[in-house]
Amino acid sequence: MKFLLKNKWVLITGASSGFGAAAAKAFAAEGAKLLLGARRVDRLEKISAAAKKSGRAEVHFHFLDVAKTSSVEEFISWAKQKIGKSKTEGGKLHVLVNNAGGAHGLDTIASGKDADWEAMIQANVLGVLRMTRAALPLMPPNSGASIINIGSVAGHAAYEGGAVYCAAKAGELQITRALRLELLGTGIRVGTVDPGLAETEFSMVRFKSDAARAKKVYEGTNPLTAEDIAEILVWVARRPAHVNIDELIVKPVDQAAIGKVFRRKS
Ligand SMILES: NC(=O)c1ccc[n+]([C@@H]2O[C@H](COP(=O)([O-])OP(=O)(O)OC[C@H]3O[C@@H](n4cnc5c(N)ncnc54)[C@H](OP(=O)(O)O)[C@@H]3O)[C@@H](O)[C@H]2O)c1
Repeated sequence: MKFLLKNKWVLITGASSGFGAAAAKAFAAEGAKLLLGARRVDRLEKISAAAKKSGRAEVHFHFLDVAKTSSVEEFISWAKQKIGKSKTEGGKLHVLVNNAGGAHGLDTIASGKDADWEAMIQANVLGVLRMTRAALPLMPPNSGASIINIGSVAGHAAYEGGAVYCAAKAGELQITRALRLELLGTGIRVGTVDPGLAETEFSMVRFKSDAARAKKVYEGTNPLTAEDIAEILVWVARRPAHVNIDELIVKPVDQAAIGKVFRRKS
């Protein structure tokens, strides 16, 4: 039997744009109750309003910086309060989507910047660890709860200029695998969804708001959309409670490998 998300609490990090924002709408459409976090609270406010419209569900948002332990702890104690007030589903968190992250810069190691390296390791690696550690006590055993981490094809293969992002997503993959082993017997599901080229704000962030450079990444090709990933996240969480999707790689048909992208000439 499919796992029903109606009235279940779902926590999504990095919900202010891209996959996270699309996931908020998709989980709301299933009737789930949402806890959304990111640093841009003005964006969260708009996304919450849109998610409410798509599902008439309960949607709450709060500032979250996964790069800081204090912010993660503050966010989780806020989440605990929200969940605690809930009369349905025993006040438990059923889905944690560790999505916050991204790439900063495309410099070679020889010209890399400390600030970019630190931001990538903080959000993509330590952020997943911090959020998981803090949220686990809220997750009920043997009730079909899921932890879904967002990895990347970058965690499976290296590319020039991608050393630290690739290392960070390879770290996320190994964290997911270790957690899967550690939670065996609890009934809590653990998996990673690892996308290839997807058009979100990812490249704008990577290229520090250089819109022309960001646009070039997707030129002539048909990338994944945030909605494609959101649909997969809902699908993963909705599998019957005994089914665990361990690792899922998804790429656009135009991308056979990182750097091997089919581009139409206009
Ligand atoms: N797009 C792709 O091609 C692609 C492919 C594979 C994997 N991914 C991964 O997918 C995830 C989502 O990326 P996206 O493509 O949706 O890009 P995006 O549109 O730039 O979204 C990134 C989200 O992460 C949040 N975030 C970043 N650092 C954060 C921090 N320190 N604390 C809290 N939130 C933080 C951002 O929110 P604030 O800035 O408001 O905090 C934003 O909501 C990332 O982990 C990324 O590495 C993307």
